[in-house]
Amino acid sequence: MLDLLMKRRSIRKYKNQEIEEKILDKILQGALTSPSGKNKRPWELVVVNNKELLKNLGASRGGASQPIANAELAIAVLVDPDITDTWIEDASIMATVIQLSAESLGLGSCWIQVRNRLTEDGENVEDYVKKLLNIPEKYNVETIISIGYPDEEKSHHNLETLPYDKVHYNGF
Ligand SMILES: Cc1cc2nc3c(=O)[nH]c(=O)nc-3n(C[C@H](O)[C@H](O)[C@H](O)COP(=O)(O)O)c2cc1C
Repeated sequence: MLDLLMKRRSIRKYKNQEIEEKILDKILQGALTSPSGKNKRPWELVVVNNKELLKNLGASRGGASQPIANAELAIAVLVDPDITDTWIEDASIMATVIQLSAESLGLGSCWIQVRNRLTEDGENVEDYVKKLLNIPEKYNVETIISIGYPDEEKSHHNLETLPYDKVHYNGF
């Protein structure tokens, strides 16, 4: 597991290589194990592999969302905030598990923030995404994870540069 964590970097460039259905299913299996507060599972996932939709989602936030445009796959993580007050935590854990599951299968991924972000025209990105993906109003869209076979190499995390100064023992 530590090897996987050391290897994971945000990958924003992807090969034009299809992700087989059984690989996608493995990502989803991993994702659906995600823990949630009181096991309420307030999330819903929208899997996007339609090229036109990927292009339009990628245009939502200019450069910040561009990785979605050339990804083979994107998974939007939604939550119903009426189900639980831990919806941000629950959605974030789900998104992280998706990224780690993808990484474990040789794929690269990037978190594209949706919540609290505006389009270049000043529209709420959540509204933009909801319209595009026919998401009912009551859901909040936390993030979209772009996924594909990596077309860039990034150095792994290494023990020497981990920010150990963030760690405090028995008090701050
Ligand atoms: C909450 C959150 C929001 C992020 N939003 C974006 C984003 O909108 N676009 C993007 O390209 N990367 C985004 N990232 C990726 C971060 O930039 C990246 O994780 C960070 O720079 C560390 O690099 P690494 O993932 O390669 O270790 C986001 C990551 C997190 C955790």
